[in-house]
Amino acid sequence: MKALILAGGTGSRMRPITHTAAKQLVPVANKPILFYAIESLVAAGATEIGMIVGETHREIRDAVGDGSRFGATVTYLPQDRPRGLAHAVLISREFLGEDDFVMYLGDNVLTGGITDVVRGFREERPDAGILLTKVTDPSAFGVVETDAEGRVVRLEEKPARPRSDLALVGVYLFTPAIHEAVRAVAPSARGEMEITDAIQWLVDHGYAVRPTVVTGYWKDTGNVTDMLEVNRSLLETLVPEVLGTVDEASELVGRVRIEAGARVERSRIVGPVVVGARTVVVDSYIGPSTSVADDCRITGSELEFSIVLNRSRIEGVGRIEASLIGRDARVRRAEHIPRAHRLVLGDHSSVHITD
Ligand code: TTP
Repeated sequence: MKALILAGGTGSRMRPITHTAAKQLVPVANKPILFYAIESLVAAGATEIGMIVGETHREIRDAVGDGSRFGATVTYLPQDRPRGLAHAVLISREFLGEDDFVMYLGDNVLTGGITDVVRGFREERPDAGILLTKVTDPSAFGVVETDAEGRVVRLEEKPARPRSDLALVGVYLFTPAIHEAVRAVAPSARGEMEITDAIQWLVDHGYAVRPTVVTGYWKDTGNVTDMLEVNRSLLETLVPEVLGTVDEASELVGRVRIEAGARVERSRIVGPVVVGARTVVVDSYIGPSTSVADDCRITGSELEFSIVLNRSRIEGVGRIEASLIGRDARVRRAEHIPRAHRLVLGDHSSVHITD
């Protein structure tokens, strides 16, 4: 079983945290989203990975390399433009050969992994397998309609009037039957070759498309609440370890990971929390479900249920909760501090809080 990860795209639709970098490399629990995809595939036994890359290919290559550190081999497959998910399959024909494969959208996270789903697919081997999840806003997704027996009847990409609340999750299982299907689809109204049309083609031609409903799915929607929630969920699996230094006056409670070169002084950290490499935490409290990335400085502050990206500084601020703070951001004390601040800061922001 091979794998195809889609890590292309132009990057123009990236929100909220980066407008210059590959969205697949946005970190959650201090690890790029894309790495979770690779790790899930490797755990499910799909170690031969084709990686679709576009404009941001250099960054992706720098981060992933040849895949050996994940126990995988990665072959890069350049796509000239994001012409659609079915187009990605089309241009991967040679790499995929006659193998079954898992297609994984590189900006998606399935917090429960895919090992069981892949095992189920291998055992039953339908012509294709799709994963579904119940969503509250189906019109933002590929929506799947099933009949009374749970068979797939119709797939629609971002329908104005959704016929169900079951959205397609960004992981698909295919046999070589998909190759004929992707050759048959024409670009949609938005100019992309849609994988939903290819799967509809399979359904219409009598192929077995097996749906599986999953929970714990997350897709980068630019929604901060979702991102904090997936961060919380991924931190539950954090391996606690102190690789940096923690002084006698500090206390670590629960699942806490302190990366190499990090320094914690006169502070209290209640997990699950990860503190990145070379980050300094002094006279501060860091509460549950918080990820602080590398080279940050947190002094005289309280932080909970938040994500702080590389090189940011939070100094003398009372309490920050449910916040997402970008790279190189700076939050510092001014007069009249409120008890809780809620912040969504882009890269390189600088904020002075006055009341
Ligand atoms: P998205 O652009 O998110 O695809 P989507 O069709 O779900 O669009 P929307 O955001 O409007 O819901 O891309 C999903 C992943 O696939 C992302 O990692 C980029 C990648 N991708 C490619 O590699 N090639 C492509 O042609 C497209 C469309 C996406």
